[in-house]
Amino acid sequence: MRILVTGGAGYIGATAVAILLSKGFEVSVLDDCSTGHKDSIPENVRFIRGSILDSTAIEDALTGCNAVMHFAGKSLVSESVEKPDLYRNVNIEGTRLLLEQMQYMGLKKIVFSSSASTYGDPAISPTPETQIGIPTNPYGESKLAVDEMLARESSVNGISAISLRYFNVAGAININGQWLAERHNPETHLIPMVLRSKPDEPVKIFGTDWPTPDGTCIRDYVHVIDLVDAHVSALNSLDAPSHTIINVGGGIGYSVREVITASSRALGYDIPTVDASRRQGDPAILVADISRAKSLLNWEPVRNLEDMVRDTAHSIHPVR
Ligand SMILES: NC(=O)c1ccc[n+]([C@@H]2O[C@H](COP(=O)([O-])OP(=O)(O)OC[C@H]3O[C@@H](n4cnc5c(N)ncnc54)[C@H](O)[C@@H]3O)[C@@H](O)[C@H]2O)c1
Repeated sequence: MRILVTGGAGYIGATAVAILLSKGFEVSVLDDCSTGHKDSIPENVRFIRGSILDSTAIEDALTGCNAVMHFAGKSLVSESVEKPDLYRNVNIEGTRLLLEQMQYMGLKKIVFSSSASTYGDPAISPTPETQIGIPTNPYGESKLAVDEMLARESSVNGISAISLRYFNVAGAININGQWLAERHNPETHLIPMVLRSKPDEPVKIFGTDWPTPDGTCIRDYVHVIDLVDAHVSALNSLDAPSHTIINVGGGIGYSVREVITASSRALGYDIPTVDASRRQGDPAILVADISRAKSLLNWEPVRNLEDMVRDTAHSIHPVR
Protein backbone atom coordinates (compact mmCIF):
# COMPACT_ATOMS: atom_id res chain seq x y z
CA MET A 1 0.00 0.00 0.00
CA ARG A 2 1.45 3.40 -0.99
CA ILE A 3 0.64 6.49 1.04
CA LEU A 4 1.01 10.07 -0.16
CA VAL A 5 2.35 12.13 2.74
CA THR A 6 1.85 15.81 1.95
CA GLY A 7 4.19 17.92 4.05
CA GLY A 8 6.47 14.91 4.49
CA ALA A 9 9.55 17.13 4.79
CA GLY A 10 8.13 18.81 7.89
CA TYR A 11 8.38 17.86 11.55
CA ILE A 12 5.34 15.59 11.88
CA GLY A 13 5.20 14.53 8.23
CA ALA A 14 8.83 13.31 8.24
CA THR A 15 8.17 11.35 11.43
CA ALA A 16 5.14 9.80 9.71
CA VAL A 17 7.27 8.88 6.69
CA ALA A 18 9.82 7.13 8.94
CA ILE A 19 7.16 5.19 10.85
CA LEU A 20 5.18 4.24 7.72
CA LEU A 21 8.34 2.87 6.09
CA SER A 22 9.15 0.89 9.25
CA LYS A 23 5.68 -0.65 9.07
CA GLY A 24 6.14 -1.77 5.45
CA PHE A 25 4.16 0.96 3.64
CA GLU A 26 5.48 2.54 0.46
CA VAL A 27 5.59 6.31 0.64
CA SER A 28 5.41 9.30 -1.71
CA VAL A 29 5.96 12.84 -0.44
CA LEU A 30 4.64 16.11 -1.84
CA ASP A 31 6.27 19.13 -0.20
CA ASP A 32 7.38 22.56 -1.39
CA CYS A 33 9.96 22.71 1.43
CA SER A 34 8.71 26.17 2.44
CA THR A 35 9.07 25.19 6.10
CA GLY A 36 10.25 21.60 5.67
CA HIS A 37 13.67 20.13 4.97
CA LYS A 38 14.48 17.89 2.01
CA ASP A 39 17.24 16.16 4.00
CA SER A 40 14.53 14.71 6.28
CA ILE A 41 13.23 12.53 3.42
CA PRO A 42 14.85 9.09 3.06
CA GLU A 43 16.17 7.97 -0.33
CA ASN A 44 13.63 5.16 -0.75
CA VAL A 45 10.75 7.64 -0.82
CA ARG A 46 9.29 9.09 -4.01
CA PHE A 47 9.70 12.84 -3.49
CA ILE A 48 7.82 15.41 -5.54
CA ARG A 49 8.99 18.91 -4.73
CA GLY A 50 5.91 20.99 -5.40
CA SER A 51 2.95 22.77 -3.92
CA ILE A 52 -0.50 21.59 -2.96
CA LEU A 53 -1.60 24.64 -4.95
CA ASP A 54 -0.31 23.03 -8.16
CA SER A 55 -2.73 20.45 -9.61
CA THR A 56 -0.07 18.97 -11.89
CA ALA A 57 2.26 18.32 -8.94
CA ILE A 58 -0.64 16.84 -6.96
CA GLU A 59 -1.56 14.52 -9.82
CA ASP A 60 2.06 13.39 -10.13
CA ALA A 61 2.32 12.82 -6.38
CA LEU A 62 -0.95 10.87 -6.16
CA THR A 63 0.04 8.49 -8.96
CA GLY A 64 0.23 4.95 -7.60
CA CYS A 65 -1.04 5.94 -4.13
CA ASN A 66 -3.92 4.33 -2.24
CA ALA A 67 -4.46 6.89 0.53
CA VAL A 68 -3.31 10.30 1.75
CA MET A 69 -1.95 11.67 5.01
CA HIS A 70 -2.32 15.42 4.62
CA PHE A 71 0.12 17.37 6.81
CA ALA A 72 1.13 20.13 4.37
CA GLY A 73 0.13 23.59 5.41
CA LYS A 74 0.95 26.79 7.20
CA SER A 75 0.77 26.58 10.97
CA LEU A 76 1.98 29.75 12.68
CA VAL A 77 -0.79 31.53 14.55
CA SER A 78 0.89 34.95 14.54
CA GLU A 79 1.71 34.69 10.81
CA SER A 80 -1.92 33.79 10.15
CA VAL A 81 -3.02 37.04 11.80
CA GLU A 82 -0.59 39.03 9.61
CA LYS A 83 -1.31 37.07 6.40
CA PRO A 84 -4.81 35.58 6.57
CA ASP A 85 -4.95 35.23 2.77
CA LEU A 86 -1.87 32.98 2.80
CA TYR A 87 -3.61 30.69 5.30
CA ARG A 88 -6.87 30.65 3.35
CA ASN A 89 -4.97 29.95 0.16
CA VAL A 90 -2.55 27.21 1.26
CA ASN A 91 -4.62 25.50 3.94
CA ILE A 92 -8.12 25.74 2.45
CA GLU A 93 -7.63 26.13 -1.32
CA GLY A 94 -4.66 23.73 -1.28
CA THR A 95 -6.79 21.06 0.39
CA ARG A 96 -9.66 21.71 -2.03
CA LEU A 97 -7.32 21.11 -4.98
CA LEU A 98 -5.96 17.95 -3.33
CA LEU A 99 -9.49 16.59 -2.80
CA GLU A 100 -10.47 17.51 -6.36
CA GLN A 101 -7.51 15.56 -7.73
CA MET A 102 -8.21 12.61 -5.41
CA GLN A 103 -11.78 12.53 -6.72
CA TYR A 104 -10.55 12.68 -10.31
CA MET A 105 -8.11 9.79 -9.69
CA GLY A 106 -10.54 7.68 -7.64
CA LEU A 107 -8.73 7.96 -4.28
CA LYS A 108 -11.11 7.90 -1.35
CA LYS A 109 -9.05 7.79 1.86
CA ILE A 110 -7.53 10.72 3.71
CA VAL A 111 -6.28 11.49 7.22
CA PHE A 112 -6.01 15.23 7.84
CA SER A 113 -3.96 17.25 10.35
CA SER A 114 -6.55 19.37 12.10
CA SER A 115 -5.81 21.32 15.24
CA ALA A 116 -7.08 22.17 18.72
CA SER A 117 -6.99 25.79 17.54
CA THR A 118 -10.35 25.05 15.87
CA TYR A 119 -11.88 25.15 19.38
CA GLY A 120 -10.68 28.67 20.20
CA ASP A 121 -11.30 29.21 23.91
CA PRO A 122 -13.58 26.23 24.64
CA ALA A 123 -16.16 26.30 27.43
CA ILE A 124 -15.55 22.67 28.39
CA SER A 125 -12.24 21.14 29.52
CA PRO A 126 -11.16 18.44 28.78
CA THR A 127 -12.65 19.42 25.43
CA PRO A 128 -14.65 16.84 23.45
CA GLU A 129 -15.04 16.91 19.67
CA THR A 130 -18.71 17.88 20.11
CA GLN A 131 -17.61 21.29 21.41
CA ILE A 132 -18.63 23.96 18.87
CA GLY A 133 -15.46 25.50 17.49
CA ILE A 134 -15.04 29.27 17.59
CA PRO A 135 -11.45 29.83 16.42
CA THR A 136 -9.68 32.99 17.57
CA ASN A 137 -7.29 33.31 14.61
CA PRO A 138 -7.17 32.66 10.82
CA TYR A 139 -5.04 29.52 11.33
CA GLY A 140 -7.77 27.90 13.45
CA GLU A 141 -10.43 29.15 11.01
CA SER A 142 -8.58 27.51 8.10
CA LYS A 143 -8.38 24.17 9.91
CA LEU A 144 -12.07 24.31 10.83
CA ALA A 145 -12.96 25.16 7.21
CA VAL A 146 -11.07 22.05 6.02
CA ASP A 147 -12.81 19.85 8.60
CA GLU A 148 -16.14 21.14 7.22
CA MET A 149 -14.95 20.61 3.64
CA LEU A 150 -14.09 16.98 4.43
CA ALA A 151 -17.53 16.44 5.96
CA ARG A 152 -19.18 17.75 2.79
CA GLU A 153 -16.85 15.74 0.56
CA SER A 154 -17.68 12.52 2.41
CA SER A 155 -21.42 12.97 1.89
CA VAL A 156 -21.22 14.32 -1.68
CA ASN A 157 -18.33 12.28 -3.14
CA GLY A 158 -18.16 9.33 -0.74
CA ILE A 159 -14.66 9.83 0.64
CA SER A 160 -13.58 8.25 3.89
CA ALA A 161 -11.88 10.90 6.01
CA ILE A 162 -10.63 11.44 9.52
CA SER A 163 -9.58 14.83 10.92
CA LEU A 164 -7.16 14.30 13.76
CA ARG A 165 -7.27 17.35 15.99
CA TYR A 166 -3.82 17.60 17.52
CA PHE A 167 -3.15 19.50 20.67
CA ASN A 168 0.57 20.35 21.24
CA VAL A 169 2.96 17.97 19.54
CA ALA A 170 6.43 17.46 21.03
CA GLY A 171 9.29 14.99 21.21
CA ALA A 172 11.45 13.48 18.48
CA ILE A 173 12.23 10.12 16.91
CA ASN A 174 15.64 8.50 16.74
CA ILE A 175 16.35 6.73 13.46
CA ASN A 176 19.57 4.75 13.28
CA GLY A 177 21.22 7.03 15.82
CA GLN A 178 20.03 10.30 14.22
CA TRP A 179 17.33 12.50 15.77
CA LEU A 180 14.50 13.67 13.56
CA ALA A 181 13.01 16.63 15.41
CA GLU A 182 11.35 20.02 15.10
CA ARG A 183 13.32 22.46 12.96
CA HIS A 184 10.84 25.31 12.78
CA ASN A 185 12.06 28.83 12.10
CA PRO A 186 10.85 30.69 14.02
CA GLU A 187 10.23 28.07 16.70
CA THR A 188 6.99 28.86 18.52
CA HIS A 189 6.46 25.59 20.39
CA LEU A 190 7.02 25.71 24.12
CA ILE A 191 9.16 22.63 24.78
CA PRO A 192 11.94 23.34 22.23
CA MET A 193 11.85 27.03 23.20
CA VAL A 194 12.26 26.17 26.88
CA LEU A 195 15.11 23.76 26.11
CA ARG A 196 16.94 26.43 24.08
CA SER A 197 16.49 29.15 26.70
CA LYS A 198 19.69 31.02 27.63
CA PRO A 199 20.42 33.66 30.30
CA ASP A 200 20.67 36.37 27.62
CA GLU A 201 17.59 35.03 25.74
CA PRO A 202 15.30 33.65 28.46
CA VAL A 203 12.08 31.92 27.46
CA LYS A 204 9.05 34.15 27.96
CA ILE A 205 6.13 33.06 30.13
CA PHE A 206 3.11 34.76 28.57
CA GLY A 207 0.88 35.58 31.53
CA THR A 208 1.31 34.58 35.16
CA ASP A 209 -2.15 35.66 36.27
CA TRP A 210 -4.31 33.11 34.46
CA PRO A 211 -7.07 31.40 36.48
CA THR A 212 -4.96 28.25 36.92
CA PRO A 213 -3.26 26.81 40.05
CA ASP A 214 0.15 28.39 39.31
CA GLY A 215 -1.12 31.29 37.18
CA THR A 216 0.37 30.02 33.89
CA CYS A 217 -1.50 28.54 30.91
CA ILE A 218 -2.30 24.84 30.86
CA ARG A 219 -1.81 22.83 27.68
CA ASP A 220 -1.99 19.22 26.53
CA TYR A 221 1.07 17.58 24.94
CA VAL A 222 1.37 14.48 22.78
CA HIS A 223 4.58 12.76 21.67
CA VAL A 224 5.07 12.87 17.90
CA ILE A 225 5.54 9.06 17.77
CA ASP A 226 2.23 8.50 19.61
CA LEU A 227 0.61 11.01 17.25
CA VAL A 228 1.84 9.17 14.16
CA ASP A 229 0.66 5.87 15.65
CA ALA A 230 -2.80 7.48 15.87
CA HIS A 231 -2.51 8.32 12.16
CA VAL A 232 -1.73 4.73 11.28
CA SER A 233 -4.72 3.53 13.33
CA ALA A 234 -6.87 6.16 11.62
CA LEU A 235 -5.64 5.11 8.18
CA ASN A 236 -6.39 1.45 8.92
CA SER A 237 -9.90 2.35 10.10
CA LEU A 238 -10.84 4.23 6.89
CA ASP A 239 -13.48 2.31 5.01
CA ALA A 240 -17.02 3.53 4.40
CA PRO A 241 -17.85 7.05 3.22
CA SER A 242 -17.71 9.12 6.39
CA HIS A 243 -15.94 11.98 8.12
CA THR A 244 -14.95 11.77 11.77
CA ILE A 245 -13.18 14.32 13.93
CA ILE A 246 -10.94 12.78 16.61
CA ASN A 247 -8.88 14.61 19.23
CA VAL A 248 -5.29 13.44 19.65
CA GLY A 249 -3.59 14.61 22.80
CA GLY A 250 -2.25 13.34 26.06
CA GLY A 251 -5.56 13.95 27.82
CA ILE A 252 -3.59 15.62 30.64
CA GLY A 253 -2.93 19.32 31.17
CA TYR A 254 0.47 20.72 32.18
CA SER A 255 1.09 24.33 33.10
CA VAL A 256 3.91 26.29 31.49
CA ARG A 257 5.74 26.22 34.84
CA GLU A 258 5.36 22.43 35.04
CA VAL A 259 6.91 22.10 31.57
CA ILE A 260 9.79 24.36 32.66
CA THR A 261 10.32 22.31 35.83
CA ALA A 262 10.37 19.03 33.84
CA SER A 263 12.80 20.58 31.36
CA SER A 264 15.10 21.90 34.11
CA ARG A 265 15.16 18.40 35.57
CA ALA A 266 16.08 16.91 32.16
CA LEU A 267 18.88 19.42 31.56
CA GLY A 268 20.14 19.44 35.14
CA TYR A 269 20.01 23.22 35.66
CA ASP A 270 17.42 25.95 36.23
CA ILE A 271 16.11 27.14 32.89
CA PRO A 272 16.15 30.95 32.66
CA THR A 273 12.67 32.48 32.23
CA VAL A 274 11.14 35.93 32.09
CA ASP A 275 7.55 36.87 32.87
CA ALA A 276 5.67 38.62 30.05
CA SER A 277 2.12 39.82 29.57
CA ARG A 278 -0.66 37.59 28.24
CA ARG A 279 -0.97 37.12 24.48
CA GLN A 280 -4.31 38.01 22.99
CA GLY A 281 -6.40 35.01 21.95
CA ASP A 282 -4.62 32.49 24.21
CA PRO A 283 -7.07 30.33 26.16
CA ALA A 284 -6.18 29.71 29.83
CA ILE A 285 -6.64 25.96 29.51
CA LEU A 286 -6.68 23.67 26.46
CA VAL A 287 -6.80 19.96 27.21
CA ALA A 288 -8.12 17.15 25.01
CA ASP A 289 -10.86 14.72 25.86
CA ILE A 290 -9.36 11.65 24.15
CA SER A 291 -12.16 9.17 24.82
CA ARG A 292 -13.16 9.11 21.14
CA ALA A 293 -9.60 8.21 20.06
CA LYS A 294 -9.61 5.41 22.64
CA SER A 295 -12.92 3.97 21.50
CA LEU A 296 -12.73 4.48 17.71
CA LEU A 297 -9.00 4.04 17.10
CA ASN A 298 -8.13 1.85 20.07
CA TRP A 299 -5.36 4.41 20.63
CA GLU A 300 -3.97 6.13 23.65
CA PRO A 301 -0.60 7.77 24.23
CA VAL A 302 2.10 5.65 25.84
CA ARG A 303 4.68 8.44 26.23
CA ASN A 304 4.51 11.13 28.91
CA LEU A 305 5.80 14.68 29.35
CA GLU A 306 9.13 13.41 30.66
CA ASP A 307 9.62 11.36 27.45
CA MET A 308 8.74 14.36 25.26
CA VAL A 309 11.14 16.66 27.10
CA ARG A 310 13.93 14.06 27.18
CA ASP A 311 13.68 13.22 23.45
CA THR A 312 13.48 16.88 22.44
CA ALA A 313 16.45 17.64 24.71
CA HIS A 314 18.48 14.84 23.13
CA SER A 315 17.70 16.16 19.66
CA ILE A 316 18.81 19.69 20.65
CA HIS A 317 21.74 18.74 22.89
CA PRO A 318 22.91 15.43 21.35
CA VAL A 319 25.94 15.03 23.62
CA ARG A 320 23.77 14.65 26.73
N1 LIG B 1 3.19 20.86 15.46
C1 LIG B 1 2.06 20.95 16.16
O1 LIG B 1 2.07 21.03 17.41
C2 LIG B 1 0.73 20.93 15.42
C3 LIG B 1 -0.46 21.04 16.17
C4 LIG B 1 -1.68 20.99 15.50
C5 LIG B 1 -1.72 20.81 14.13
N2 LIG B 1 -0.55 20.74 13.43
C6 LIG B 1 -0.64 20.58 11.96
O2 LIG B 1 0.18 19.48 11.57
C7 LIG B 1 0.73 19.71 10.27
C8 LIG B 1 2.23 19.50 10.32
O3 LIG B 1 2.79 20.40 11.28
P1 LIG B 1 4.36 20.50 11.51
O4 LIG B 1 4.56 20.96 12.90
O5 LIG B 1 5.02 19.26 11.04
O6 LIG B 1 4.71 21.71 10.54
P2 LIG B 1 5.90 21.87 9.50
O7 LIG B 1 5.91 23.30 9.09
O8 LIG B 1 7.16 21.30 10.05
O9 LIG B 1 5.43 20.96 8.29
C9 LIG B 1 4.54 21.42 7.28
C10 LIG B 1 5.09 20.96 5.95
O10 LIG B 1 4.20 21.40 4.91
C11 LIG B 1 4.99 21.93 3.83
N3 LIG B 1 4.19 22.88 3.07
C12 LIG B 1 3.76 24.11 3.47
N4 LIG B 1 3.06 24.69 2.48
C13 LIG B 1 3.05 23.81 1.45
C14 LIG B 1 2.50 23.83 0.14
N5 LIG B 1 1.83 24.89 -0.33
N6 LIG B 1 2.68 22.75 -0.65
C15 LIG B 1 3.38 21.67 -0.21
N7 LIG B 1 3.93 21.60 1.01
C16 LIG B 1 3.76 22.65 1.83
C17 LIG B 1 6.19 22.55 4.51
O11 LIG B 1 7.30 22.75 3.65
C18 LIG B 1 6.46 21.56 5.64
O12 LIG B 1 7.36 20.56 5.23
C19 LIG B 1 0.33 21.12 9.87
O13 LIG B 1 -0.81 21.03 9.02
C20 LIG B 1 -0.07 21.76 11.19
O14 LIG B 1 -1.03 22.77 11.03
C21 LIG B 1 0.67 20.80 14.03
